[in-house]
Amino acid sequence: MAEFSLPANSVVKQGKTHKAAEGVKNIRRFIVYRYDPDSGENPHTDTYEVDMDTCGPMVLDALLKIKDQMDSSLSLRRSCREGICGSCSMNIDGANTLACTKAISDIKGDVKIYPLPHQPVVKDLVSDLTNFYAQYASVEPWMKTDTAAPPDCERLQSKEDRELLDGLYECILCACCSTSCPSYWWNSDRYLGPAALLNAYRWIVDSRDEAAGERLDDLEDPFKLYRCHTIMNCAKVCPKGLNPARAIAETKKLLVQRKM
Ligand code: SF4
Ligand code: F3S
Ligand code: FES
Repeated sequence: MAEFSLPANSVVKQGKTHKAAEGVKNIRRFIVYRYDPDSGENPHTDTYEVDMDTCGPMVLDALLKIKDQMDSSLSLRRSCREGICGSCSMNIDGANTLACTKAISDIKGDVKIYPLPHQPVVKDLVSDLTNFYAQYASVEPWMKTDTAAPPDCERLQSKEDRELLDGLYECILCACCSTSCPSYWWNSDRYLGPAALLNAYRWIVDSRDEAAGERLDDLEDPFKLYRCHTIMNCAKVCPKGLNPARAIAETKKLLVQRKM
């Protein structure tokens, strides 16, 4: 899995330890990044000793137990708690993933939890994904057509054409891939990153879409697409098992093919 380590000059200091209640035996320690820009203080980590006998199996269960029973000031995003909404993405045990599908038992030792790397932090584990969503919007992720739809039915697709979308349409926009990509870390102002590029390709290969040429024109840019250097972290971390690197490679291939 792609490892995330903080730069040496930004070592995060340890803050408070929230002890488990007296007599609790089955304890796991969760070391959680804390940052409140309004406080004027530097980021730190707080440690929470969680009673595993009264905690669900996933990292999100522990975080919600911490928030509900130990420290209500902890901020995080979550909604579906089953790997569908993409909102609980964070860096757990050194890799970007979804807190709701990451089993605590899969982690050895203390459970270290940070926000997604290289994004501004709104508070604690809540990253500011404004740029990420703007880049997604920039690929115009909707069907574009010039011809009129058939009067008596929807636009149909063959089984084979529909299968081309498998491995693409399942993206939940969690941002685990883009925020694990070193090229994206350094150039996120101009490089679209694996998530937006996977979604661009999803529409390029959709047989019903009539704007593939225009979409490829837009991606033919030294930064938007070609800053992918096949580092592959994106495919390693995707919690839905998707392969944005492959979508990017296929897009590059289409750009070459149309020149020939
Ligand atoms: Fe998340 Fe995977 Fe989509 Fe990237 S490709 S945003 S990791 S679901
Ligand atoms: Fe980044 Fe994935 Fe390319 S990690 S460099 S987008 S292969
Ligand atoms: Fe929805 Fe985790 S809470 S993906």
